[in-house]
This record gives sequence, structure tokens and C-alpha cells, in this order.
Amino acid sequence: MVTRTSFQADELRAVLHERAPGTGAAGADRSTVRVIRAPGRVNLIGEHTDYNLGFVLPAAIDREVRMAVVETGDRRVELTRLDTGERAGFDLDGERTRDGTWIDYIAATAWALTEAGYPTVGLRGVIATNLPENAGLSSSAAIELAAAWALLGDAAPDMDRLALARICQRAENGYIGVMSGLMDQFASSCGVGDHALLLDCRSFDWRPVALPADVRLVVLHSGSSRKLDGSAYNERRAQCEAAVVALAQVDPDIRSLRDVTPALLGAERGRLEPVVARRAEHIVAENGRVLAVIEALAAGDLAAVGELFAAGHASLRDLFEISSPELDALVDIAGRVPGVVAARMTGGGFGGCTVNLVRPDAVEALTAAVESEYPARTGLTPTVLRVRATEGAGYLD
Ligand code: GLA
Repeated sequence: MVTRTSFQADELRAVLHERAPGTGAAGADRSTVRVIRAPGRVNLIGEHTDYNLGFVLPAAIDREVRMAVVETGDRRVELTRLDTGERAGFDLDGERTRDGTWIDYIAATAWALTEAGYPTVGLRGVIATNLPENAGLSSSAAIELAAAWALLGDAAPDMDRLALARICQRAENGYIGVMSGLMDQFASSCGVGDHALLLDCRSFDWRPVALPADVRLVVLHSGSSRKLDGSAYNERRAQCEAAVVALAQVDPDIRSLRDVTPALLGAERGRLEPVVARRAEHIVAENGRVLAVIEALAAGDLAAVGELFAAGHASLRDLFEISSPELDALVDIAGRVPGVVAARMTGGGFGGCTVNLVRPDAVEALTAAVESEYPARTGLTPTVLRVRATEGAGYLD
């Protein structure tokens, strides 16, 4: 069985015919094979702010889902995973219920494209990924974006990338049942090489933000995986909505936590259940931190970026309550390595990864510190991922 996770386009074309039954002559003719890539993402700052219509600052990363597909002219979608050998599929026009596996994400995307009025094509193919799953690096968004590019056939390159991200978010919300915001699909769709992306989740205005040339992006995986389809994510979202309902009684113009200032929250927090007040306090301050990080990056003030990351992590730990002892340990270890500029947990929380901005000559020291101290503190094995900010989903030549 093929157990590799990283494949170049030609390698995927080469294995398609043998690994994906049903491709027929089309699979054998490599010129008709389409190879697609869709990246995961790491979020620099702005956690749980997306569904509160605030600001986020993610970057697409060079860990990605890759697919090689051929259109079959029928209404069947069938894919083989190259890491496990599993083969799964569904009929584009048939009724289907979720089975809790990876193919759900492909079916979800087909469902959302159809709902949005876009024709989809039947296909056979293979899928490979070097993006850890359940790590908080948006492997599900990456599968959705890759699926969207495959299912749209010839129409994919002409699609607006933000619109595509919103369709994939709809797949997640309406089919998978996780009420996530737009950040993950946005980053996977709209990524820009060597840049983070500042997104205003209310207006959908966004722009690339250059990453400092003198720092590297290092993602530390805690080895404790997170599960977003649990109730905790949706519960956080409901608590944020409860805060909005209560604060709208003070000012009917308040439609989301985006509209709440720190001063207003300070004055009115007595109206909120203590737990709801803590959630709101995180979101309101986190929006400010995103904008402050943008300013600090523009000014080249990496010390300020480090302080903002630290404040963001503390807020996720103490107010939003989605960190974990493992993530706290990784941030603590990184913070004591000279040359680590900034460190915090990233993504939905409850396990997963931290994101670190690191001077190039400190990457080795960070790796050594994490590999020696983290297992002793947690009993878990960490994974160090040196990543680069990359382009959003598309064809791979
Ligand atoms: C998950 C969700 C995103 C976002 C983050 C937290 O990754 O999919 O929409 O809410 O959590 O910032």
C-alpha cells in the first residue's frame, strides 16, 4: 500500500489509473487528469472572531490536500485515499446521509455547490494529504476547497475565490453541522505566498499582509488532537450570541460582538451571565489585538507582536477557556527560547497546535527545547512543522 503523504503532480497522475478504478481510458491519458491542491491554514491572531463578524489574520500554509481527478461524464464521485487506501464515493443526484468519514466533506461541498446553483461533474480520483487531521490546521476546509475545484470542472478557475470560500463554509455549516466562521475556507481559497491575510468578517474586505522577512513560521503540534464537531465550538458560538441578545437591549444597533466596545462591555457586563461575559470580553479585546498586530507588523515592532500573541493566548486560556495544559506547555517552552518572537495557541482550541514566529537562527533551538521538554511535561510527542505562507487552492502543474 502507498503510505506516503507528499506527492508531486506527475506522481499523482501516474498513480491515478492504477489506484482509482473506473477512470478507464481517461485515467490512462495523463493529459486529461486534473491535479488540484488546497492548503491548510494557521491563524496568526483573531480567534473565534470570525463568526462574531470581527477580524482574523490567518495564512495558508504549505501543508495541503492534493487530488488528481478525471471527469467521467456520469453522476458518480469516487475517490481513493492514498494514505489509507480507502475508497469512498456517492451519487451527485442521490440522497445521502453523513457517515462521519472524510468523504462527507466532499459530499458536503457537492451539496453546497448545488444549493448555490453551480453545476457539478462526476469524477474518479485519488486524494493525498500531508496536512495533519484534527490538528487545528483546517484539514476539513482544505478538503472542501480541493473538492470544489474538482467538482466545478472547467468552471473552477473563473470562480471568485471568496465566493468559493463562502460556499465551502456553507458545506461545513449546513451539511457537516459545525457552525464555523469563514476563516478557514477563506484562507485555503485566498492564500497569498509569504503573506498573512487580514479579513474583515463583516464586510468581507481583505488584504494580504506581508510577513516579516526575518522570522519563520513554526507550527508546534501538541499531539493531542482536537475535535470540532463536538458541542464545545457551537456552545461558544451560542454564548457569544447570548451576549449580543443581552447587549442589544442597551443599544439596538448592536448586532454582533463586533459592535461592542470595551467601554460598553465594561459598563454593561452585569447584564451578562459571568461565563457569557468572559466569552464576550475575549472577543471584544481580540478584535483590537488583530488590528494592533497589523500596526505592529507595519512598524516592524516584533516585541509588540509577541506581547499581543501572549495576551491572546492568555485570553483564550482564561476567558474563552479553549486552551489545554498541552498547548499552555508549548507556549511556555517556546517563550523561554531566545529568538522566539511570538507564540500562542491557534485555531478552534481544545488541543491541536501553537503558532510561533521565530528568528531563523532560533528554529533549531526551539525544536530542541520542545522535543526534550514537552514529552517530559505531558507524556505526549510533539511535531514541529516549519511552514511557509502559500497560495490559495488551485491547479498544480
Ligand atoms: C475553527 C473554525 C473557524 C474559527 C476558528 C477559531 O477553525 O473553523 O471558523 O472560528 O475555529 O478562530
